[in-house]
Amino acid sequence: MELVDAPHSKCGTFGFVGSSPTAPTSLMKTYQRFPIELVKGKGSWVWDKKGGKYLDAVAGIATCSLGHSDKALIKSLSKQLRKLQHVSNLYEIPEQEELAKWLTANSFAKSAFFCNSGAEANEAAIKLARKYGHIKRNIDNPIILCSKESFHGRTLAAVSATGQTKYHKGFEPMVNGFKFFSYNDNESFENLFDELEKTGQGIAAVLIEPIQGEGGINIGKKSFFELIRAKCTSSNVLLIFDEVQTGMGRTGTLWGYEQLGVEPDVFTLAKGLGGGHAIGALLVNHQADIFQPGDHASTFGGNPFACRAALTVGREIQRRDLLNKIKERGKQLKEGLIKLSNKYSDIFMSTRGIGLIQGLVLNDNIKITSLDIVKSALKEKLLLVSAGAKVLRIVPPLTISKKEINELLSRLDKCLMKLS
Ligand SMILES: Cc1ncc(COP(=O)(O)O)c(C=O)c1O
Repeated sequence: MELVDAPHSKCGTFGFVGSSPTAPTSLMKTYQRFPIELVKGKGSWVWDKKGGKYLDAVAGIATCSLGHSDKALIKSLSKQLRKLQHVSNLYEIPEQEELAKWLTANSFAKSAFFCNSGAEANEAAIKLARKYGHIKRNIDNPIILCSKESFHGRTLAAVSATGQTKYHKGFEPMVNGFKFFSYNDNESFENLFDELEKTGQGIAAVLIEPIQGEGGINIGKKSFFELIRAKCTSSNVLLIFDEVQTGMGRTGTLWGYEQLGVEPDVFTLAKGLGGGHAIGALLVNHQADIFQPGDHASTFGGNPFACRAALTVGREIQRRDLLNKIKERGKQLKEGLIKLSNKYSDIFMSTRGIGLIQGLVLNDNIKITSLDIVKSALKEKLLLVSAGAKVLRIVPPLTISKKEINELLSRLDKCLMKLS
């Protein structure tokens, strides 16, 4: 067969703002894309092919921690590319060791396993939990408890752990061994936990997000998490936090669990860890450090390039005192969102969030969806993302400035004025 070069631009469109039928795409139809081609970025800004400049309050969905084209990342990754990009986990990888040291020195964890994404990190956690159930609790069919409103990723076990059934449709049967309780509902959790324990259906772990991102920016209640921690401790059940969206400074502390004052045994990371480069991690305490050679693996996981990216993000968070800045910017953003929520009370009922993961909650009884606002914001050259139909999510780069937050709020105001 004769080889042909790829045509330069084949953007598939699915009827969003300003879209018009364009050339057919060679991509599968997994995404409904907005009809803009982003070709360049700097800090909190991105440019489309036609030169349009957008303020990016999506940041690759809470991923581009240091914004776009960050100088420190460019420098360290260019150096790493010239040195060594990838070798197998058959060999010792000093960058991986260095990253594991940084993560464990800055958390309760004792050791780390590296992979490439959030779903993969959760898959590793699920396997770890099952092994823990078998060897530490003598359970034949270990059960993992998850929240009905959760999101843990799209691979088969991660989506089975995801409580929102809309993600299951068409892919049944789901993987066995997950049972669900309602988030922030002490009674729902306690009843399920006690019933399973009483009837001898062994629980291996509880897997939960400290703040639910995709589920609608639901902030975990301290008393709820304290109850879960106490139940897990007294029954020798692993407590696993999915910090894929909350980890790496997003909430104003390095880890979301610090906001709750409740320490899990295991936590998973991805998104912001590599600042836009693919890396996921599983972090465990002493008791959960049970994987043996051959138990789990990943070809790309923790390669020198990805680890260098995550090390740079971590060190830049410290060097630039970003945690304090995230707290300040988060407060400024929150205050502005409260004002907008009050001004447009026909659209919104409340705001939710901590640090730079914030949400505006839409009224139940209106026709407008969060996607309508996202589309309208695009016309104001502001990138936003929804978290379900009823929550507008704002997750800018962790480096966003005071002036840029004001600009974000002003663009959002303009778009809401038109919608209201
Ligand atoms: C809490 C949480 N867990 C897991 C995932 C899945 O991560 P990934 O898309 O990197 O597989 C996501 C992605 O949105 C997430 O928010």
